[in-house]
Order: sequence, then C-alpha cells, then structure tokens
Amino acid sequence: MFRLETSKLDIAYEERLIVEDLNIQIPQGKITALVGANGSGKSTILKTMARIMSPKAGSVLLDGKSIHKQSTREVAKQLAILPQNPTAPEGLTVTELVSYGRFPYQKGFGSMRAEDKRMIEWAIEVTGMTEFHDRPIDQLSGGQRQRAWIAMALAQETDILFLDEPTTFLDMAHQLEVLQLLEHLNATANRTIVMVVHDLNHASRYAQHMIGIKQGKAIAEGSPVEVMTSDVLREVFNIEADIVMDPRSNVPLCLPYALAGERPKPVAPETKVVNSAMVHAAGRAEHRVQATGS
Ligand SMILES: Nc1ncnc2c1ncn2[C@@H]1O[C@H](COP(=O)(O)OP(=O)(O)OP(=O)(O)O)[C@@H](O)[C@H]1O
Ligand SMILES: [Mg+2]
Repeated sequence: MFRLETSKLDIAYEERLIVEDLNIQIPQGKITALVGANGSGKSTILKTMARIMSPKAGSVLLDGKSIHKQSTREVAKQLAILPQNPTAPEGLTVTELVSYGRFPYQKGFGSMRAEDKRMIEWAIEVTGMTEFHDRPIDQLSGGQRQRAWIAMALAQETDILFLDEPTTFLDMAHQLEVLQLLEHLNATANRTIVMVVHDLNHASRYAQHMIGIKQGKAIAEGSPVEVMTSDVLREVFNIEADIVMDPRSNVPLCLPYALAGERPKPVAPETKVVNSAMVHAAGRAEHRVQATGS
C-alpha cells in the first residue's frame, strides 16, 4: 500500500531540469532508502516530497492529494524532514531547536501544552541529547548537532519521516544508534521512513525498500535483494562490486572492488581474501573448538 507517491514529477533549479518524469512510490509503514551518486538528485527529490521545494510539473500525492495544494501546517503534521545541511540561528539551544518541531500543533505564542513538552523531552532523550539540552547548537560537535536535528524532526510526531543522510558525521556506534532508533520507530510506531544513505550496507540492513537514483531517474526499485545486485550497482554508481549474503541478517552486502570497466587489481599472492561469510564461519569454527574443550 502506498500513502505517498510522485506522479510525473519534474523538478528544476531555475531553468535547469534535475528530475524529469519521476514516478516513485513510498510503501506505507516501511523504511525506504534512496541511494545514488553525489549530485544524482536525492536531496532534491526528498525536499520536494517534503514540500520544501515546489515541482516544476507533476505532483507529490499524499493519500491521493497533492501536498503542494495543502497548507504548511497540515502537511507538517504528517511529514517531517531532516535536511542534509540544516543551519540554526546563532545561540539557539537544543531544547529551543527541538521545540520548533511542535510548531504545527501550536495555536499561538506561548501556547505550549503538556503534550508538546512531553514530546520535546522524549525526542531529546531518545536521541541521547539530554546532557546537552541547554547547549547552543553552534557549540556542539558535528555528531551531537546531527542528533539535535533528528530530535527536532522526531518531536514533530509525524507518520512519515524524511531523513537526508542521518548518519553522516556520526561515529560507528552513533550511526548504529540512529539506525536502530529509526528501526524501532518503524517497528513499534509504524512510522514510514524515507532516508538518503550512502552506506549501501546500512541501506540493505535497515531498509525494506530501496530506490536507486541516477541523474534524477529511478533506475531500480524493490527489496534489497532486488536492488543490491552487481548490475544495478554498476549502472547506478559506476562501480564493480561483489555481493555476499550477510549471514547474520540474511541481506545482501556489497564489497566494491573497482570502478566500472576498470580491470581489478590482481590479488597479491600473500593476501588472503576473506568475506564476511568466511569470517563468520571461522568465528563459529573457533567457538566449536573452544566448546569441545580442545
Ligand atoms: N540550490 C541549487 N541551485 C542549483 N542547482 C542545485 C541546487 N542544489 C542542487 N543543485 C544541483 O542539482 C543536482 C542534484 O543535487 P542534489 O543535491 O539533489 O544531489 P544529491 O543526490 O543529494 O547529492 P549528494 O549525494 O552529493 O548529497 C546537482 O547537479 C546539483 O549541483
Ligand atoms: Mg544530497
């Protein structure tokens, strides 16, 4: 089932057409990953689906109605977006930023209700920002800042969440934390999530639906098994990659080894080539040896 789709969407900056005749569908209650090379149009598509940009032609339909014909407040109760490079006014604190997320629910100045305060507190807590709640955004590290913006999007309490590279600037543990948080929101609150990610293995592990974008066009759409193939990666990213199944999550992972058309470097005779399946199997074998006491 689709709550959100684009129909014959054209998007341009001035006269330069970036996206032409885009028809994509976002499955309800799933995590969708938009993947593609730098400059392929992912952020442009996301901003238009979130109503930050207006299309040149065509429409973005939410429950069958064009979002560009609805009021900002109406749309903001249903869709929230974490943009790629958000900027906050100087001196704005984390709590102040996150409280912006409650704007669509407020009736006037100073009308914050208990429900708004609870959501703000919750969003700050689940993003691990409690200890920084009073800190100005411009005095945070890149990763902390990213999490403060994610908290703002969460405080908006929408069914649909768009996130443009939510894990950029984050260390590995915080990347996993954000992805697990999104997975949790999807599983427990049935949130529909659309995220742009560059790490294809994260896309494959955390998204149930993937869309490969090249020059403003959707080249491949489907489950990770359908989209993470050597042929699609060659077409979308211009790379040669081996695909292996992750023995832990049983999803395809990619191991890029050359640019498309480039002859791969020969493997040095001394180098052992391992893939994750072999590492895992080796780990299990070691475990068995220990378990049998030998
Ligand atoms: N404000 C703008 N004005 C004019 N052209 C723009 C603007 N923003 C983006 N573009 C151009 O539109 C194209 C698509 O950009 P977009 O930001 O959507 O790419 P992207 O897929 O998100 O890339 P990245 O992975 O680098 O974030 C690029 O050619 C870019 O140069
Ligand atoms: Mg982008």
